[in-house]
Amino acid sequence: MIDNQSHLFDLPDDAVYLRCAASAPQLKSVYEAGRLGLAKKSRPWRIGARETFDDVERLRGLFAGLIGAEAGDVALAPSASYGLSVAAANLTLGEGRDVVVLERQFPSNVYPWRALARRDGGRVVTVARPADDDWTAAVLAAIGPSTAIVALPRCHWLDGAMLDLEAIGRRTRAVGAALVLDLSQSLGAVPFDVRDVRPDFLVAVAEKWLLGPYQLAFLYAAPSRQDGEPIEHTWIGRAESQDYARLVDYRDGYQPGARRFDVGERGNFISVPMAIRALRQVTDWRVDAIAATLTPLVDETAERAGTLGLTPVPAAARAPHMIGLRAGAALPPDLGDRLADRGIFVTVRDQVIRVAPHVYNGRDDLARLFAALTDLL
Ligand SMILES: Cc1ncc(COP(=O)(O)O)c(C=O)c1O
Repeated sequence: MIDNQSHLFDLPDDAVYLRCAASAPQLKSVYEAGRLGLAKKSRPWRIGARETFDDVERLRGLFAGLIGAEAGDVALAPSASYGLSVAAANLTLGEGRDVVVLERQFPSNVYPWRALARRDGGRVVTVARPADDDWTAAVLAAIGPSTAIVALPRCHWLDGAMLDLEAIGRRTRAVGAALVLDLSQSLGAVPFDVRDVRPDFLVAVAEKWLLGPYQLAFLYAAPSRQDGEPIEHTWIGRAESQDYARLVDYRDGYQPGARRFDVGERGNFISVPMAIRALRQVTDWRVDAIAATLTPLVDETAERAGTLGLTPVPAAARAPHMIGLRAGAALPPDLGDRLADRGIFVTVRDQVIRVAPHVYNGRDDLARLFAALTDLL
């Protein structure tokens, strides 16, 4: 368990922030790294090309460390949708073949597959939300001989309902399909290892559970997928791009590993040092300890929800770090705003109240949330 860490964040004392699934508040150390990066552009001679290359490699290594991969398996992207578009550009579907997704899955992990289905003539198959929240059983039943790609999260973004990706990975491999994961809503707060799940591609944005800056995401490509085509033709992704004297000796070859998939201008001297600082903090805390710290808050949220007639995601499907509370009757349309007026920040969407705490929250925050909900519902 990690002691309350609110002193490391720039959050006002009276704010109850339970919206990490939307966007994490900034660590003071991450803010400081960003400020130093921003100041560099006023004195461009202080931006060292070598230092930027080294920082990018350091960042790949930190992300790789969180997922049991190697630095060279990681590319830098500006968004989850960019990383998933790289995955889609390097997979084929074909007439009569399917991509499996979840009902109401986050759109970044749906649109690239709809486009691929249009291009290749396949179909996107949507697994309906099971009444008992057992997504794993429903997904396993949907994977069959016609499945070419299984594109999933670790937990549903709307309520945190979890999927067993190890079991799904085994079934995906058994039918010869590719597994593509969007872990934007879990990496950093739920332990994960590519050696257990064996995805072909995986993405995660920096700005949520990885506590990093906006407009940065990570793309993992399995070693067997590292000979693909990037979706932009950057000079920096080409072989020996560190040799500035020979940049116009145009090369057909790429940097080794997944680096070929990097976005142009990947060496952002503001966001890269911010993300390094954030991932160091997450690594120091340890993801299993973050999960263990958040689980009692999530469980208490589930217990208290019952007293207000809200239905939490059942324990068997519950994520350690966030939870959706479903309302039987219509919620007041302005519930989110009225909570925000009291300094309490949750996400209200589709008759679900999503509560997403982090190590800056405590039980007192839940007491304030439920006192306000008792008043407003
Ligand atoms: C599951 C999931 N994936 C991705 C994103 C962000 O996607 P993008 O980086 O494409 O804007 C979000 C944001 O809410 C999300 O919940």
